[in-house]
Amino acid sequence: MTEFKKRIAETLSEKIKTDFSAELSPSDITAMLEYPPDSSMGDIALPCFKLSKTLKMGPPVIASRLSDADFGGICTVQCAGGYLNFKISDDWLLQNVLVQIEEKGDKYGASGMGEGKTVCLDYASPNVAKPFHIGHLGTTVIGHSLRNLHEFAGYNCISINHLGDWGTQFGKMIVAFRNWGSSDEVEKRGIDALVELYVKFHEEAEKDDSLNQQARDEFKKLEEYDEDNIKLWKWFIEISLKEYEKTFKQLGIAFDSYAGESFYVDKVPEQVEILREKGLLKIDDGASIVDLSEYNMPPCLILKKDGSTIYHSRDIAAAVYRKRTYNFDKCIYVTSNGQSLHFAQWFKVIELMGYDWYNELVHVPYGTVSIGGEKLATRTGNVVLLKDLFAQAIEKVTALVEEKNPGLKDKESVAEAVGVGAVVFHYLYNTRIKDINFIMEDALSFEGNTGPYAQYTYARTCSILEKAEKVDKSAPASVVCAEESELLKVLSKFPEKVLSAIEDYEPSVITRYIIELASSFNRFYHNCPIIGAEDETVRNTRLRLTKATGTVLKRALALICMRAPEKI
Ligand code: ARG
Repeated sequence: MTEFKKRIAETLSEKIKTDFSAELSPSDITAMLEYPPDSSMGDIALPCFKLSKTLKMGPPVIASRLSDADFGGICTVQCAGGYLNFKISDDWLLQNVLVQIEEKGDKYGASGMGEGKTVCLDYASPNVAKPFHIGHLGTTVIGHSLRNLHEFAGYNCISINHLGDWGTQFGKMIVAFRNWGSSDEVEKRGIDALVELYVKFHEEAEKDDSLNQQARDEFKKLEEYDEDNIKLWKWFIEISLKEYEKTFKQLGIAFDSYAGESFYVDKVPEQVEILREKGLLKIDDGASIVDLSEYNMPPCLILKKDGSTIYHSRDIAAAVYRKRTYNFDKCIYVTSNGQSLHFAQWFKVIELMGYDWYNELVHVPYGTVSIGGEKLATRTGNVVLLKDLFAQAIEKVTALVEEKNPGLKDKESVAEAVGVGAVVFHYLYNTRIKDINFIMEDALSFEGNTGPYAQYTYARTCSILEKAEKVDKSAPASVVCAEESELLKVLSKFPEKVLSAIEDYEPSVITRYIIELASSFNRFYHNCPIIGAEDETVRNTRLRLTKATGTVLKRALALICMRAPEKI
């Protein structure tokens, strides 16, 4: 559509110049173009009331005078009141959309806007020794989709897993392990055993407050690099990472860096010194803070009473480190909206410190997840672990495959792609900022607008092409039914969907587009015989359309972390 809009905007700009002696650039006109609410009116519309001020004429008159411009046969034009409606010609669609997809292949929609630029993306970032649950699904799949989208647009991308591997919880874990843990148990049961110890600590500390002091003491020792504590701490991280990596692997996600919070502890003092020099640091009840009342925010804590670093100050040090190391053009942080204040605070501190790149920091929040209307809570056990959720989804798909297609090759890998994909798709279908009440049955549903439906549609394109054997790209093509031109129009929208997903940091734009494309293809498939078409040109055109749909579907699915098996 972008190309089509550009072409009509250029013609209109010329026409306005010659007929009205007015100057309006093609890009100004492009910005005015809209999609009509009902596609029977046209594919694109120009609401002429937006021009009446400049051209000093009523919208219907403008529409009628513009309608006789020469658009070179790329569309038909109709006036409806103050609107000018354009219907794209099928020939233009074939030449520009179909041929373009064939030429560019899976690069169709790649704008190149990020060429020469670097983006750091901070996502997933779980807290060590805590369960990896559905609350983390958002940061993980939104974060990785944003990476894929940026990479597709030509950016050099650095994925960073900012592990929560430092803080008082490690004091608690050390006390809990020494009191109630066993190495064998932790080695055998991994993170589950660690989480149990964490929960146990809190139960016991309710009864015996002295445990909390012990935990603080052990953390203090850790901060002073006590050998035994460091050993335990490293081991907790190793055990947790093993578990996280299994889940990342199922999602097809890898990170460029696992530098967690602990990595920045020794980089905080340099920043504290700058804060002090600039007179930004205040002592409040023994703690060091930056006062942000002028910006209507609570103070940003920098150092605790005992001088130790905190989440905020480690983030500040991390941002400076990343700027120096990667020289990013953008650094994106994906977390739940519960942390919006945290980011607003330390972004402000970075600005006040005089770092001129402060506006390259972007927080991308998403809505919180609850179960049965209640907040997730590790301590009360109100969590759904991602590994359990994925296992259930895979089990469901496996049963379906056994029933419907027992001879399928690579059954296990297909079941994983479809099961995990169902959950991911379900999650990414929502606008990211919407709060989610998680319902297992919905996440595992395969009916309607779901991941399996999209993947199944892709597999359908593959099986048609397999049966057809040969597709001739150089033979003449023609559009003979409405479903074909509708499909071409949907295909033509992909590049702008990619742009808008990047601009708004919104993978759901792609998820919804996938459904639009899959539905359009299925309408075409049900109403227009493809292999069975009698006319050779029609048959060949339909095969080319099938192939182009497959190319775009596969690419779009990959953008939102989904695999596209050729057979299901
Ligand atoms: N570990 C944090 C949590 O689980 C998320 C970290 C996000 N990234 C950051 N640079 N603060 O809530």
